[in-house]
Amino acid sequence: MSLNDEEKRFEGIKEKWNQSTKSNVFDALFGGTGYRTIGYYKTDSDTPAQALRNMTARVAEISEMRPDSHVLDLGCGHGIPVLDIAVNIGCSVVGIDLADEHIVLAKNAADLYKKEKKADLKAEFYAASYFDLPDAVTNQKFTHVMMQTSMFYAHNRIDELLALISKVLHPSGILVSTDYLKASDTSDTSKFMEANEMPVMLSLDQLESALIRNGFEYSEGENLDSHCLKSSESKIDKIVQEGIPCPAVNLFKLMKGLVMNSQLTFQLIVATKSAS
Ligand SMILES: C[S@@+](CC[C@H](N)C(=O)[O-])C[C@H]1O[C@@H](n2cnc3c(N)ncnc32)[C@H](O)[C@@H]1O
Repeated sequence: MSLNDEEKRFEGIKEKWNQSTKSNVFDALFGGTGYRTIGYYKTDSDTPAQALRNMTARVAEISEMRPDSHVLDLGCGHGIPVLDIAVNIGCSVVGIDLADEHIVLAKNAADLYKKEKKADLKAEFYAASYFDLPDAVTNQKFTHVMMQTSMFYAHNRIDELLALISKVLHPSGILVSTDYLKASDTSDTSKFMEANEMPVMLSLDQLESALIRNGFEYSEGENLDSHCLKSSESKIDKIVQEGIPCPAVNLFKLMKGLVMNSQLTFQLIVATKSAS
């Protein structure tokens, strides 16, 4: 794929996410949380909103974020997940998103969090692609880089992305990601990739190899398929029961079928930058 095609692909992704801020359908599906990811169901009675917050709490816990951590969120969406980390863990955070409308929401949320939750909040947000980080970000070093359902857009350029991440991480810094990975090649996985503007979808083995060749140790992981299934089911149920006009229902159904049939897997990945 030429660079021009890549520019066009990311323009389309940016436009899609900017447009999503103008509709309240996504707010309804994600429980009004501002999160745009998969939930982590600690108990069967968790609401979708609770499950979404649990997911980011799990990301922070498994990657051992601490009050002295400095966390960069690539593809931060509305900024709420990383702001919740800043409040709950007490660390400083920086968020990047391609969609400028997301960054407007993130900056507004940061102002509100500062007033209502944490007066000494340290949070910065920038509208940018993770392939073109601003100097204000590349001039900093982070203990953690997190990517919550945003790495899948870049599987075709995984080496480039991991090299960029490595540059902004401290030695022994941690990359933590939740991501869709291919478990088998079928026409339905191709449909999923097309619907998500993914020219390539890596398998877990391929991602592990990419991490190793870019100087990371794959330190820990967690299979989140059951959570992905529950998340898809709860969205489908809500759309059907409440008659919500949502074309994405077909994508949620496709994802549910793929995970049920072991064609797609949703994984939490933790990798440590090798100190040398
Ligand atoms: C599924 S949403 C996840 C948002 C957020 N991480 C969360 O958990 O709520 C994916 C996000 O990745 C962002 N994104 C996609 N490509 C990107 C890129 N090249 N650079 C920065 N952000 C990107 C999108 O704009 C979108 O906000």
